[in-house]
Amino acid sequence: MRAGINVALIKYWGKADDALNLPAVGSLSLTLADLGTHTSVRWRQAEHRFELDGVRRDDPQVVATLDAVRDHLGATGCAHVCSRNSVPTASGLASSASGAAALVSAAWLAAGGALDVADPTLLRLVRLASGSGPRSLRGGLVGLDVQGRVEPLDDGWDLRMVVAVNTLVPKATKSRPGMAHTRDTSPYYAAWVDTHPADLTAARAAVTRRDLPALGALMEHSTWKMHACMLAARPALNYLQPVTLAVIQAVHALREAGVGAWYTMDAGPHVKVLCAAADAQRVAQAVQAVAGVRRIHVAEPGPGVHQVADHVPPC
Ligand code: PMV
Repeated sequence: MRAGINVALIKYWGKADDALNLPAVGSLSLTLADLGTHTSVRWRQAEHRFELDGVRRDDPQVVATLDAVRDHLGATGCAHVCSRNSVPTASGLASSASGAAALVSAAWLAAGGALDVADPTLLRLVRLASGSGPRSLRGGLVGLDVQGRVEPLDDGWDLRMVVAVNTLVPKATKSRPGMAHTRDTSPYYAAWVDTHPADLTAARAAVTRRDLPALGALMEHSTWKMHACMLAARPALNYLQPVTLAVIQAVHALREAGVGAWYTMDAGPHVKVLCAAADAQRVAQAVQAVAGVRRIHVAEPGPGVHQVADHVPPC
């Protein structure tokens, strides 16, 4: 199974229910083609075994997910899981979302389940593995609400996301503890949650109108509110680096030159720049020229989780 990473335009940060992993705010994202996770699963093995990019890992979340799929579908034995990420793992490029969507779907299908991305149990298992994971089950622009419901919004808009990969190392603070810390210590957290629904409503309306300047401006606003909220935590939670700000300046210069381009950052120093397909090359050139950018990807909107020919080598 293959699932694309999804990048939030209107961000999710903070949980309403830690045990159910339900978000405190809704979100709106774009699932990308080509960047993501490819996972294969074989059941009836003696022990659970998980390999990511050729390295065996002990991951209690993966084991819990496999046990839950087995219990729900009545599969037998344990599972061998082979996964490959096409983006750096756990560095703020949403590999946990694509990883969760691909893992649950692959384990589910291999255990004899029918793959229905609207199945409430499948959705819950993906969400428990990654709060933003359910969005990678669907293609294009996707909404996720505070009850965990996923809604495909538009998979035909010819957008591009230029992804500036600015580090290859995992983040120091993972999203889950980062969200709990922000909720518990940031004086801006209540304002973040209170003002969020208006952004979501406006963004959904911009999607309906296919109004890219409005959507881009809302994305930047949601991005800065999320980071401001984290920066006001005690101690501050900062995922941004000098290269992040340098890419942002390049995007501002593009806009001053009349190119429609808007940026967003998640829990890492990478910058994703949203633009129309016709502007992607110009944006890519400008972003690539920024000192410190490791590499770039020009990503199209991609499909939801789907089956592919299994070229992940067996574990
Ligand atoms: O699903 P998690 O726990 O990886 O959190 C995702 C949080 C952000 O990427 C920062 C925002 C989002 O909505 O994707």
